[in-house]
Amino acid sequence: MPTVTTRTVEQQAIKAGRKPGRRTDEVIAASVLSDGIYELVIRDPYVARTAEPAQFVNLYPSDARMVLPRPFGVAKIEGDDVTLIYQIVGAGTQEFSQLQAGDVVDVLGPLGKPFDVSKPANYVLVGGGLGVPPLLYAAQILNQRNDGSEVTSVFGYRDECFADDLVAPFADRTHSIVNAEGNVVDLLNDIEDELNNAGKQPIILSCGPTPMMKAVAAWASKRNIPAQFSLEARMGCGYGACVACVVDTPSGRLKVCKDGPVFTTEELGWEA
Ligand SMILES: Cc1cc2nc3c(=O)[nH]c(=O)nc-3n(C[C@H](O)[C@H](O)[C@H](O)COP(=O)(O)OP(=O)(O)OC[C@H]3O[C@@H](n4cnc5c(N)ncnc54)[C@H](O)[C@@H]3O)c2cc1C
Ligand code: FES
Repeated sequence: MPTVTTRTVEQQAIKAGRKPGRRTDEVIAASVLSDGIYELVIRDPYVARTAEPAQFVNLYPSDARMVLPRPFGVAKIEGDDVTLIYQIVGAGTQEFSQLQAGDVVDVLGPLGKPFDVSKPANYVLVGGGLGVPPLLYAAQILNQRNDGSEVTSVFGYRDECFADDLVAPFADRTHSIVNAEGNVVDLLNDIEDELNNAGKQPIILSCGPTPMMKAVAAWASKRNIPAQFSLEARMGCGYGACVACVVDTPSGRLKVCKDGPVFTTEELGWEA
């Protein structure tokens, strides 16, 4: 009798037109990017073929005391390999930081509603801290297009600029700032002329701490610049079943995992 692996089950689901469920992926590489910030590369052909910018994957800790998965934005895709970048904040990320090439980890995804990058524009990627990974993938996808779109990165870091080198190959313009120098809104003020003089209409894609994103929304709406925000919430299931991740919006309570994580300024009521 042939052996049934999670990969076989995944292939059967895809063949039947369904999204594959939880499966076991091989770890291809694991490294430290900066103090407490890790890069993990897993081999997942389905995520690699289908993920869109700001979609995330659920990683399941192997410790049975942690039943809930942990969500991470896709940061880069090369062939069948999917890169995640994460910070250690608690027990789950501590466990993932021990993973080595050749280990396995359970994965579900890609999940969530992506950034809308359908229009040609100067996409201004405004990220703070560990909000940067989904913007790296947005830069990679936009860079592959041939519709005149441009990419300007505006990254704010606590101290070490761990993602500048990662975004540079995919961006037309890169800017960054560390906390001691100011915040991303200061940086947006500094580069406003450059944004106005770029060939295309700016569209902001942002991810990072909520106070930072609210300040970016206010900056953008004063200038009539459309903006989309990838929210972070404490999640349970990651696909709409448990109501752990709701956010209050002018049109009611929405689930960050399923209705988002991406929302526009208007959907969030963040125009002020
Ligand atoms: C859509 C989405 C994409 C994400 N992408 C990334 C990414 O690319 N890189 C990355 O480093 N992190 C990302 N995160 C956050 C990441 O999921 C959490 O850091 C992780 O789940 C923490 O797991 P843990 O077991 O280490 O911490 P836990 O032990 O579960 O928690 C430790 C502490 O962190 C707090 N915490 C945990 N998760 C969150 C959260 N989502 N929001 C606010 N506080 C939280 C807890 O309340 C607790 O105080 C993302 C979150 C979401 C919702
Ligand atoms: S995490 Fe379960 S509904 Fe969003």
